[in-house]
Parts: sequence; structure tokens; C-alpha cells
Amino acid sequence: MSPSMTSAAPTLRWRLEDLDLQAVDREAVASRDDIFLLVCSASFIESGTDLYTRNLLDYFAGDGEFESWLARQWEPEELQHGRALRAYVEHVWPDFDWSAAFADFFAEYSSLCTLDELEPSRGRELVARCMVEMGTTTYYQALNALCGEPVLRDLTWRIRTDEVQHYKHFYQRFLQYRRSEGLGRTQVMAALWRRIAELRRSDADVALRHAAAWRWRDCPAPPALQDVRQQVFERMRGEFPIELAVRMIIKPLGLGPRVQRWAERPLSMLARRVLLH
Ligand SMILES: [Fe+2]
Ligand SMILES: [Fe+2]
Repeated sequence: MSPSMTSAAPTLRWRLEDLDLQAVDREAVASRDDIFLLVCSASFIESGTDLYTRNLLDYFAGDGEFESWLARQWEPEELQHGRALRAYVEHVWPDFDWSAAFADFFAEYSSLCTLDELEPSRGRELVARCMVEMGTTTYYQALNALCGEPVLRDLTWRIRTDEVQHYKHFYQRFLQYRRSEGLGRTQVMAALWRRIAELRRSDADVALRHAAAWRWRDCPAPPALQDVRQQVFERMRGEFPIELAVRMIIKPLGLGPRVQRWAERPLSMLARRVLLH
């Protein structure tokens, strides 16, 4: 990539300084293990974005405009999500050793993030990226509804808004590659399916496991990970915006309005089963 691509300052929609951590209602949130785990595991994944950016930049080498957006907009925004969530964790739970926990997480996560994990063509990889952004959009929207603490509500909504914009950008790029690669619905569907199945395990699981391990590191009788995961998941399930998820999942299929209306209900049921069970 040319130096000019990275030299200009990113145009972020908000800044870390916009967060008023002093206004956090610690009473409301410090005892909530579910919120700790959800915010902390998200901070790990967001903070590991630079690893993924390198993979994506290699994969999209030569597509200058897109490379530039990845490096100057997408990556700085994702890393800012990580920094802001980390700042929140460290403010509310000052005894938690975020750096050490992240180092453990990153050692495992970096071995999962390789070029082999990418889809076999750029168009299909962009479908996968749309699904990742669908996953983050709905995650932060559910967390926003669940958390109840005003500063975290503000933060999760800011992040959610960025994730929607990421989805839109990946989607627009996908439309161009769909044409040039002549991608059919079956191929798009296969990429969708692979990535959604992937969303359920891997990254989020690894992050949650390390957040929990460090949270209860000195506890003589830590709760079973399976129980913790189950409890956190149950709470998120109650707030999960399933209709939004379905709209974001089926958009790349380019169905006509009539087919889309017809497909929405069965797809909602399917999405509920796949994403929430
Ligand atoms: Fe993000
Ligand atoms: Fe994103």
C-alpha cells in the first residue's frame, strides 16, 4: 500500500474523549458479571482487529480504494471500539488485569486468524464480512438494551452505529464483486451460511473463556464456564434483535420484495434456531 493511504488522519465519527467515564453509575454495573463478560470479551476481539486487517489488506491488494477504507476508516474505528470498551472495563473493574488477560487471549486468537480462514473469492469474503458486521451490530444493540447503565448505553449505541456503517460499506463493495465474479445466489448463500455457523463459535468463545479465566483467577471456587456462558447467552437472547439480523442476513441474496416478504418468516425462525440456540 502506498504511504499516502495511511498518512491522512482517519475521519472517526466520535472520539474516545467523547465518553464521560466519570459519569458511570458504578453501583448499577460493578456487580453485573454478565455485563463484565460481554464488554470485556468484546474489547478483546475489537482490540485484535489489526491482525485481521493485515489479512484483509493482503487479500484485497490492488483494490486501492477499498484498501484505503480498510486502513483509514474501518481499522481505526474497530480499534477505537476496543480502546473504549477496555477503558470502560478498567474504570468499573479496576482490579481486572486487562493487559495480561488480553495477552492470553491474543496468543490463542492469532493462531485462528490466518489467510486460510478467508473465503475463496473476494466477493464471497465480502459476504462473510457483512455477516461479521451483522453479528457485531446485533450484539451491541442487544448489549445496549441489556445493560441499563447510561454511559455504557451511550458507548454501545455509538459502536452499533459504526458497525451498521461497516456493514453498508462491505455490502456496497460486495455488489461490485458480485457482478465481476458472476456470483450466483447459491454461492452467496454458501458463504452466508459458513460465516453464520462460524459466528456461533470461535472468536466469541475464545474471548469469553479468557475474560472469565482472568475474572475468577484468584477465586478458590470459580463458576463453571459452561454455566457462565449459558447465563450470559440467556440474557442476550432476551434482547436479540432478530428481525434486524434477518434483514441484514438476506440482503446480499438480492431477493425481490415479494420473495423477501415470503422468505422473511421462515428465515426468522431459522435464524432464531441457528443464532439463539
Ligand atoms: Fe467494532
Ligand atoms: Fe465493524
